[in-house]
Amino acid sequence: MKRKHGMRTAILLILMSLILSAAEAGTAAGKSTADPQTDPEMTVEAETPAGNGSIAADEKTNAGAESETAAQKATGAAKKEIRTGFQVINGKTYYYSKKGKRVKSKWITVGKGKKKKQYYFNKKGVMLTGKVKTKKVMYYFREDGVLDHTIDRTKKMIALTYDDGPSLYTPIIVKALKKAGGRATFFVVGERVSTYKKQLKQAFDAGCEIGNHSWDHSYLTSLSSASLLRQIERTNEAVEKVTGKTPVILRPPYGSVNSTVRSYAGMPLILWNEDTLDWKTRNTYSTISEVKRCASDGDIILMHDIHKPTANAAAEIIQWLTSEGYQLVTVSELADCRGKMKDGEKYYQFR
Ligand code: NI
Repeated sequence: MKRKHGMRTAILLILMSLILSAAEAGTAAGKSTADPQTDPEMTVEAETPAGNGSIAADEKTNAGAESETAAQKATGAAKKEIRTGFQVINGKTYYYSKKGKRVKSKWITVGKGKKKKQYYFNKKGVMLTGKVKTKKVMYYFREDGVLDHTIDRTKKMIALTYDDGPSLYTPIIVKALKKAGGRATFFVVGERVSTYKKQLKQAFDAGCEIGNHSWDHSYLTSLSSASLLRQIERTNEAVEKVTGKTPVILRPPYGSVNSTVRSYAGMPLILWNEDTLDWKTRNTYSTISEVKRCASDGDIILMHDIHKPTANAAAEIIQWLTSEGYQLVTVSELADCRGKMKDGEKYYQFR
């Protein structure tokens, strides 16, 4: 009995920490564009999901059946314990209604307003995490099951990309993105990362993607395979140290690619189909008008966050694209919605 009680305590602790982490997280509560058929059907108060933590310690199966604890069997307890709220069983998270019924194929909403969190439980009742692609919608769930954001696959989308940073101007762009609820991709130069780690972290925390743009902006095509690998690995390590996430896409400096780059990159090679020439004009107005002139669904647009005029163009570009119905997505999200990427392959756009 003592051992069992210990296990129950352990499970209770795990549950409590899960609930606490769910409560803490979620500054960037994404707006759901889920279609009405799958919209949240149940709303519960923030306090209720705690449940009573009464998982039978000897539960081996994840079947829906309620199982009695040994103690209850022994004493012949008349009343069965009912589990409610979030329950972790064999590493999977489930949700039980107030009546103790496992919720299936349903959204669960916890909290209200800015603290609102949405979870989805599939037809087996398992809480979803990570990426989930449906015909119309791309869902991004966090590891704790909270829906982070969605992308409507049937609507227009664009990937704004900013190279050569991070820099002091990066936060100007990030601020504009946050205001519009959009994201972009920053291809960073590894040797700049430690100097501008605060700016890089801000971009990452705003949901932006951080891509690899080599260590020192060398022509990768002029390097030996060993030096090339070192350029990529050092940058990946520098980014990972700041954000906790290793880049999964590479933009070779100058868009310069050969067979060595392709074989050793170890990542998809992201080029662009629209160059705003911001690096040449260094003019806010020209950068804005170039985006307005060329923007089209599935574009990957090239800009540079080391230039102040480019950063100053961000607010209007982002506001205009949003008003035109474009969803501002990262390169990886664009690829999630529109196709697939392979290591060493070049991508210019995703139509
Ligand atoms: Ni560059």
